[in-house]
Amino acid sequence: MSMTGNEWKPKIVAFCCNWCSYAGADLAGSGRLSYPAEVKIIRVPCSCRVNPLFILKAFERGADGVILCGCHPGDCHYTSGNYYARRRMTLLFSMLDYLGIERGRTRVEWVSAAEGEKFSRTMNEFVKTVTELGENRKLGDLRCKR
Ligand code: FES
Repeated sequence: MSMTGNEWKPKIVAFCCNWCSYAGADLAGSGRLSYPAEVKIIRVPCSCRVNPLFILKAFERGADGVILCGCHPGDCHYTSGNYYARRRMTLLFSMLDYLGIERGRTRVEWVSAAEGEKFSRTMNEFVKTVTELGENRKLGDLRCKR
């Protein structure tokens, strides 16, 4: 997966809730606000749909960074899904610390459907941070050997 020098590009997984963040990504696209092509968006019905194991699995499968985006607190279409997501992610962050995965490789961000600019800025910042951290080598030993 890795390339040398400046050519290396991180693999970024972005879980986006359908109602706010995915719509924010759409707005960024229609407003011609760019975000890096390394960001692969996975649309989920709500941020709480993201089991923390999905994030571990993404790292295990070679992601260099994983970001979870949902509706702002109080705006979740399922009332409180993002509060559950926030608590779970806090616990996951502790576990990732324990596993030695740098904190900069994961992030939670609330992005509304009207915040195309925030979506674009967040993704650009996140990719920059992960690029500086380099290739993720942790959890690779859990990968299935074929
Ligand atoms: Fe967006 Fe719940 S519907 S976080």
